[in-house]
Amino acid sequence: MSSELFRSPQDPIYIPPMGPDAVTPPDSTLYETMGEAGIIAMLRAFYEELGRSSLAGMFADDREQAAYRSAMFFVGLLGGPPLYAQKYGPPRMRARHLPFRITPAYQQIWLSCFEHVLTRHQEFDMPAESVASFRNFLEGFSAWMVNTAEPTTPPSR
Ligand code: HEM
Repeated sequence: MSSELFRSPQDPIYIPPMGPDAVTPPDSTLYETMGEAGIIAMLRAFYEELGRSSLAGMFADDREQAAYRSAMFFVGLLGGPPLYAQKYGPPRMRARHLPFRITPAYQQIWLSCFEHVLTRHQEFDMPAESVASFRNFLEGFSAWMVNTAEPTTPPSR
């Protein structure tokens, strides 16, 4: 497991300038259209992409379980019941992501994995006209997960 993917307690925490409230939520009719099954299938496909990416080492071996937990969060986001909070407690997503070294570059890799999945939106019953608002949400909210500035070249002395 690469330590480049995990933060050490002494690493300075980067705080993004914009909070999560500045992010426009995605289309809240999506839960009805996609159903819990469509949302779970979408997150499974996403975690498969993550598993093939350079971020794979960040994710626990049980990607099926991780995909399910994420899907429960997306159910609430997309207009369904707050299943994540009911099963796992307060979302506190930024805090839950603090163990991982999430730099702007890693955020972009994460987004590109989702981009692959969005090309298959029909498989998950996500209508074409909802893709843009969903993508916009992912871009904004994932920026809120960034907790580490891009590494700079260390001074030579
Ligand atoms: C729209 C932005 C994001 C959302 C909605 C999101 C959502 C979630 C959720 C719901 C979980 C499950 C938390 C739990 O364990 O209960 C999770 C876990 C995780 N997320 Fe994110 N996340 C986002 C962005 C990111 C980014 C940008 C990265 C890294 C580049 C990332 C890396 C992780 C990792 C490593 C886990 C732990 C997975 C595991 O259990 O192995 N997330 N995320």
